[in-house]
Amino acid sequence: MAEIIPSILSADFARLGEEIARAERGGATMLHLDVMDGHFVDNLTIGPPVVESVRRCTKSHLDCHLMIEHPERYVSAFAHAGANSISVHYEACHQLDGVLHQIRSEGAMAGVVLNPATPVSVLEDVVEVADYVLLMSVNPGFGGQDFIPYVLDKVRRLQEMRREKRLALPIEIDGGVHLDNLAEVVRAGCDWIVTGSAIFHSENAESTVRQMREIAANATAVQI
Ligand code: DX5
Ligand code: ZN
Repeated sequence: MAEIIPSILSADFARLGEEIARAERGGATMLHLDVMDGHFVDNLTIGPPVVESVRRCTKSHLDCHLMIEHPERYVSAFAHAGANSISVHYEACHQLDGVLHQIRSEGAMAGVVLNPATPVSVLEDVVEVADYVLLMSVNPGFGGQDFIPYVLDKVRRLQEMRREKRLALPIEIDGGVHLDNLAEVVRAGCDWIVTGSAIFHSENAESTVRQMREIAANATAVQI
């Protein structure tokens, strides 16, 4: 079944522990942490100390999405802070292959992220050294943006590439996913579905996660 991964970007940071507990009561076992540096994207968010605090309050898988320049300088800090998976942007890496190996050597799963405008074809070779691929379905930087529909075609192309190469890597999608488009995203073939404002800006984060997990369980990926 596709995993629903709450992004804490839209949570109340002053009550982060409670927000996480709510999402987990709804069934979440993975959490998405957005790291932004004010350079690669305009926004500024969290660093390793926050990841470390989150690590202390949950056993969930911590998925760190680095929207930063020179990610190679920070991989080790995030791994030591307790990240289980770390993804870096194709657009931010001068030596993507090297950074992916670095993440793995720190004991975390290594992910590559593509901005909406970056074609899946750039992954043709390097996908072999990635543990998952994250396709952005909004331009990175902020929560609460509209889903970009052509990204679903990218999901299908990536599925095809994965099948041809006989790779089992999960396909993650991030941005603009809410209750109304979730089933379509699952049917397109996404395995890890990040969603922030739809959960933490809802009246009841716990029941929204539960509802999303039900939708994901009922919508089966369509084989292309
Ligand atoms: C955007 C972030 C997302 C964000 C998604 O740059 O990478 O993880 O939290 O938020 P929603 O679900 O509100 O689009
Ligand atoms: Zn993200």
